[in-house]
Amino acid sequence: MRIVVTRRIPQPGLDRLKEVGPVRVWPHDRDMTRPEIIEEAREAEVLVTMLADKIDAEVIKALPRLGLIANYAVGYNNIDLEAAGKRGIIVTNTPGVLTEATADLTMALLLAAARRLVEGDRLVRQGEFKGAAPEFHLGFDLQGRVLGVYGLGRIGAAVARRARAFGLKIIYHNRRPNPELDRELEAGWVSFEELLADSDFISINAPLTDETRHRFTLREFQAMKRTAVIVNTGRGPIIKEADLAEALTTGLIGAAGLDVYEFEPAVEPRLLSIDNLVLAPHIGSATREVRTRMAHLAADNVVAFIQGRRPPNQVI
Ligand code: DGY
Repeated sequence: MRIVVTRRIPQPGLDRLKEVGPVRVWPHDRDMTRPEIIEEAREAEVLVTMLADKIDAEVIKALPRLGLIANYAVGYNNIDLEAAGKRGIIVTNTPGVLTEATADLTMALLLAAARRLVEGDRLVRQGEFKGAAPEFHLGFDLQGRVLGVYGLGRIGAAVARRARAFGLKIIYHNRRPNPELDRELEAGWVSFEELLADSDFISINAPLTDETRHRFTLREFQAMKRTAVIVNTGRGPIIKEADLAEALTTGLIGAAGLDVYEFEPAVEPRLLSIDNLVLAPHIGSATREVRTRMAHLAADNVVAFIQGRRPPNQVI
């Protein structure tokens, strides 16, 4: 069976793929375009995809032999599951292995935004540091404040565990309460409106769905505390970026940290000149160890499929 990998993944994963079939890896250091995917994968039974590859109904239709799409990510909003399902194509992802790294980055953004770390770095480099002073470069406390997690799944819970060590109390909004996590994290389920009104910090850890797209717009920022800090390591389109720019520049909220973008890799131009905002280049899972584990997991899924077994991380 032919395997096409749309971008180079860590070598251990590629080595395992090569044991089960001919592998073609896109050789360039950039994402493939849609025509390139269609051209390269025309004869492929297996496609290993990246987040940036939009595998929609049109692409699926153009790949007649495809049996497996192994996404190299935990999120799979880049794949049209309905179109894949109709064709009987299996879709897999790489969950679990990136939970802790993504939670680490979430805390890094939260702390950096709360304590104005990147703004401070810029100031020092520009030679503008004139010495510590009682009212110089003040940020927000964490101790005793409230973290609202929007989407308390695996990653959201890992963020909450870390946040508790910083003295934050946890509330969360999911479709349903999770009594087990409530006990472990001493957390409380709240309505979405309560999450907005009561949180000092909000961490977005939900997947992108029709329900979560543009869940945070000007209306929601208006309902938040003026000192609130919002961090998004989930998916960009959950926040309407133009509205976030408006909220930060008009003082509707205190600060923000983003790892993901509405029109990734493009960033709303207004965000680039806002000081109380920390921007990361989608690096939630970007550690050497995690990216290698993700490559192994993607390979596990492909090997199982080729050997006629159920892939361990089958989404549909
Ligand atoms: C994922 O796997 O979905 C992450 O966003 C990658 O960093």
